[in-house]
Amino acid sequence: MASTLITNIGELVTNTPDGAGPGPATPGPATPGPVTPDPAAQGTAARGSATPGPATPGPAARGFAALAGAALVIEDGLVAWTGSAARAPAADEVVDAAGRAVLPGFVDSHAHLVFAGERSAEFAARMAGQPYSAGGIRSTVAATRAASDDELAANLARLAAEMLAQGTTTFECKSGYVLTVADEARSLALAARATPEVTYLGAHVVPPEFAGDPAGYVDLVCGPMLGACAPHSRWVDVFCERGAFDGDQARAILAAGQAAGLLPRVHANQLGPGPGVQVAVEAGAASADHCTFLSDADVDALASATTTATLLPGVEFSTRQPYPDARRLIDAGATVAIATDCNPGSCFTSSMPLCVALAVAHLHMTTQEAVWAATAGGARALRRDDVGWLGAGARADVVMLDAPSHAYLAYRPGVPLVAAVWRGGRRRAVSTHSELR
Ligand code: NIG
Ligand code: FE
Repeated sequence: MASTLITNIGELVTNTPDGAGPGPATPGPATPGPVTPDPAAQGTAARGSATPGPATPGPAARGFAALAGAALVIEDGLVAWTGSAARAPAADEVVDAAGRAVLPGFVDSHAHLVFAGERSAEFAARMAGQPYSAGGIRSTVAATRAASDDELAANLARLAAEMLAQGTTTFECKSGYVLTVADEARSLALAARATPEVTYLGAHVVPPEFAGDPAGYVDLVCGPMLGACAPHSRWVDVFCERGAFDGDQARAILAAGQAAGLLPRVHANQLGPGPGVQVAVEAGAASADHCTFLSDADVDALASATTTATLLPGVEFSTRQPYPDARRLIDAGATVAIATDCNPGSCFTSSMPLCVALAVAHLHMTTQEAVWAATAGGARALRRDDVGWLGAGARADVVMLDAPSHAYLAYRPGVPLVAAVWRGGRRRAVSTHSELR
């Protein structure tokens, strides 16, 4: 395969101290340690140019690192080289970044993309004062049950294209909007055509036909439904929340999933305090997601575990709930990721740039922390060490911004800044409008 040199990069976000491996999730998928408070890995390493890098190192930058005046070579789908533009090797094709910023592709570790219908009226009612409740999920369940495979696949493809156009090169996708044995498996098979990060979420809510027998539904989720879904899935998830599944039910569901070879992750502490985070940490989950209402014990548990705290600020933006306290988590030493939670109810954005901007504005994260959380943090939350960073050996998932630094993602919120995307080394069209591709 031909090699590509991207040169004259104003700021190359590497998320690795010297721009060359190991990746941020090393030592490996099974046992990633907490983000190492390695001083070399925390600051901005502005190398390769007499010009200082545009970003100032921060002590809590959580592994963010960048090179100024940089170049990057892509070969065989991987990053083959990064360093000073002045020392860049020759390649078959040359792309002049003209001083633009280049980042690892975003890793969106939490999304619900297999569904039909929409809930804009519910959103409008919320904005008029109604609270968000998990009950809305059931209206999407009814619409999704009625949809054909083709309709579901087309909706998923449209959302995946939106994500790619906004710089997301890896995304996770959950089931959970049909809640029958055959249709949860069907949802997961559709998701598996779009991403390897497929999550069995039969335990999203108890469906109406089991309203009088929630224990019977948990048995179904842990038994026949799991049997049908596990072959299509990498992960098992549970919505551990009042109105969905309690701590004991969540433990049982995760244990059954793990026994079937799936890796656990948890919707935890979204709508109020509860056992979700503790259940996630006890199970060795890769991620506890939402983390909006945390006790001191929850924060301590996350800080001393390999469980990433995945914050979903688009949800609070779209439900008018209080935002999670990212500073408390980061300052305690927890690993924090940012993801969209793209779904038709609590948050219908597919935009990681928006979530980065919200994380900076409302979670009080620095621009470096937010970009790290949306790239390397997402990789941690998915136990991936091939994405979320840019150095020799990383997958060539590369985003070029029409801006000189990563900070513009928050500085220019709502502006389509993604100029070009490479996924697995292949340049991808960034328009979501097929007639423009
Ligand atoms: O992550 N919390 C549970 N699931 C989704 C909401 C889904 C919905 O409202 O349809 C979430 O916010
Ligand atoms: Fe969710």
